Amino acid sequence: MHEPGQLDELMICRLDAGRRELMPCTVVIFGASGDLTARKLIPALYHLHRDRQLPEPFRVVGFARREKTGDSWRAELGEAMAQFSRTKPVDASEWEKFGRRLSYCRGDVDDMAAYKRLAEHLGAFGDPRLSRNLLFYLAVSPSQFGGVVARLGEVGLLQRDPEPSFWQRVVVEKPFGHDLASARGLNADLTGSVHEKSIFRIDHYLGKETVQNILMFRFSNAIFEQLWSRQSVDHVQITVSETHGVGERGGYYEEAGALRDMVQNHLLQVLALVAMEPPVSLAAESIRDEKVKLLESIRPIPPASVPRQVVRGQYLAGPGSDSSSEPVPGYRQESKVKPDSNVETYVALKLAIDNWRWSGVPFYLRTGKRLPLGASEVRVEFRRTPTVLFAAQCGPTLDANALTLRLQPDEGISLRFNGKVPGASTALRPVRMHFSYDATFGAYTPEAYERLLLEALGGDATLFIRRDEVETAWGIVDAIREGWAGQPLTAREFYAAGSWGPVAADELLASEGRVWRNPYPIV
Ligand code: BG6
Repeated sequence: MHEPGQLDELMICRLDAGRRELMPCTVVIFGASGDLTARKLIPALYHLHRDRQLPEPFRVVGFARREKTGDSWRAELGEAMAQFSRTKPVDASEWEKFGRRLSYCRGDVDDMAAYKRLAEHLGAFGDPRLSRNLLFYLAVSPSQFGGVVARLGEVGLLQRDPEPSFWQRVVVEKPFGHDLASARGLNADLTGSVHEKSIFRIDHYLGKETVQNILMFRFSNAIFEQLWSRQSVDHVQITVSETHGVGERGGYYEEAGALRDMVQNHLLQVLALVAMEPPVSLAAESIRDEKVKLLESIRPIPPASVPRQVVRGQYLAGPGSDSSSEPVPGYRQESKVKPDSNVETYVALKLAIDNWRWSGVPFYLRTGKRLPLGASEVRVEFRRTPTVLFAAQCGPTLDANALTLRLQPDEGISLRFNGKVPGASTALRPVRMHFSYDATFGAYTPEAYERLLLEALGGDATLFIRRDEVETAWGIVDAIREGWAGQPLTAREFYAAGSWGPVAADELLASEGRVWRNPYPIV
């Protein structure tokens, strides 16, 4: 006899049976001395190595300006691993074996001679698969993207149309531009030397299991997809809240702000997955076509409407998220932040999607730093029952049904509905049905970068952002920025650290008879 859980296991439907085997290759990291390399890329590659997911043979070359040797780079990374690895302690023998795959090539990204040295370095591996199948990871400033790919092209390492049986790909990080014009400029710089199909633009939210699950959940379940439209949905709330402030990133953040840092990419990506139409197939281009169509259906917010549809905020000093912790400084007191900065650390906005499915259904998005709880979730709130029977008597106390996709932490999905409180009296209250990833699958939480690197090595672009996606998203965000231009923050736009944002954000929903449903800790 099988237990029910075992039967479910037997019903696993594997979709990657036709997946291509990874080919031996080399990952070249530009910006190898930087934070991203130590915190994310090397830990991710190490775990892929440890879990036997990498091809054989496989090499990683660090390229950066600082003077170091392969040994000193490895030693440095070893120390960082002790801090940043998701599994601890790091397995010394696996790390040692992984370390044999790493080497360092010193060079300045502007120096043509350095690229020739890189070509020699790769050639010295003596295996054409390691010197011609190349994944270039550009963990450098976007202003350097164009120069790097052009020089790689000049030394023959990066070909627009690689010879048959070899491939070269370029992975780039955000920020991908700071507005539509600069994103177009970057795209032009990159596509001058690399074919669009070989450019992999990262949004690390797409590497998260729960974000990938949005499509699986929507299109493998008949019961929910039937409800996924204006006929049943009252509105959707997408919240990405963080407890930390900007910390050491004040310099970057002063140029970005929450709108560029989070909304342009992570929140709009989640929105696109939640609201897009079913793709014609699971091919990368079919999925990305639908995401672009959805982004294009978002009604532009003219600058004059920004004050009515978008709320920005900036955190003041406050108690922080944990009542026992020390008080935390306000944004303007953070290092590298101007004392009179008007940069937003919080944004809430209402978007309308002008298509058949979502006409009349508002999508409320919000994100902020120094909020009381760090959580990302999508809440689909369904329409209320007619005001007869229970609703006639209970009024708004009869809760609307809601489905919440908790993206992180405590990943899971909850369905909220009403039920009778047991007992002789007649009373109703909301109850919850909850699926927890942890309870069902155990604590398997690979880093987003592991999945993303693996996909890039395999040449599958589904989890990466296409040129038209990035540009459409910038168009939406630029219009909002235009509405804010030259307007300093007003008193109503500040919020105390440890609170759920400025009051104006509550008013945005209250004016339409709705309330934000704040994420809560799931126990
Ligand atoms: C990054 C932003 O892209 O995403 C950060 O630059 C933000 O400001 C981070 O804190 C959030 O990512 P995660 O995975 O912690 O939700």
